[in-house]
Amino acid sequence: MEVVICKTKEEASRLAADMITAAVKKNPKTVLGLATGSTPVMMYSEMAKAVKAKKVSYKLVKSWNLDEYVGLAGTHDQSYRYFMNENLFKKIDIKLSNTHVLNGLAKNPEKECRAYEAQIKKAGGIDIQVLGIGSDGHIAFNEPGTSLSSRTSVVYLTPSTIKDNARLFFGGDMSKVPTQALSMGVGTICEAKKIIMLAFGKGKADAIKGCVEGGMSQFCTASALQAHNDTWIFCDEAAASKLKLKDYYAWRSATKLGL
Ligand code: F6R
Repeated sequence: MEVVICKTKEEASRLAADMITAAVKKNPKTVLGLATGSTPVMMYSEMAKAVKAKKVSYKLVKSWNLDEYVGLAGTHDQSYRYFMNENLFKKIDIKLSNTHVLNGLAKNPEKECRAYEAQIKKAGGIDIQVLGIGSDGHIAFNEPGTSLSSRTSVVYLTPSTIKDNARLFFGGDMSKVPTQALSMGVGTICEAKKIIMLAFGKGKADAIKGCVEGGMSQFCTASALQAHNDTWIFCDEAAASKLKLKDYYAWRSATKLGL
């Protein structure tokens, strides 16, 4: 695990976007795994800037998103499909038909999840998986108590995640946040060749501590990334503030990145 500690979230978002831009330039057929939430928004803007500046093209890129709420159509303004269209897909030259988000209205959700995994496999697997992290240490919607080898399935949100998501989305109304989602599993995520996680603010400090320096445990599903050999965590100083070895991680990652 490499932890890149930046002064600001702007800088962290730029560095993470640069890593994706460089990878897509090198392999125009990169398969991306994408995340929603407030954290990656700035990185997505940076990726869009690179497309506008003609530094990179996403014409041949395919993407699969981490998760979607059960019960929301892709046209619903709080759905993750809608979020991706607005925050990234409309701003880059990716073909919408090459982008995939789980269908929250699927009649047979388990079948939908199995088909999603099969699609990813057929595409050769995820080259780069983008992740945020929940304040309880979740990745995708894999809440505490989820097996670290879980596959894409129907999952149940904790009250803490419902509260977090109501605060940022759904106009603050907890009763409007769906309680179930379709989510890539921890095992599915860990199969990505490279993982880029973003984490900002002091509200993520405990989660980052658990992810990087806690024991590997289903109580912090992000800790499964300790067994992944190409994970990069881009965070600001507040999110990194509880790490015991933060100076060492900052020096090592900056050296590797040539910063
Ligand atoms: C989103 C996702 C979630 C978020 C996490 C953090 O697709 O899978 O795991 O990454 O809940 O959300 P924000 O970024 O809103 O703090």
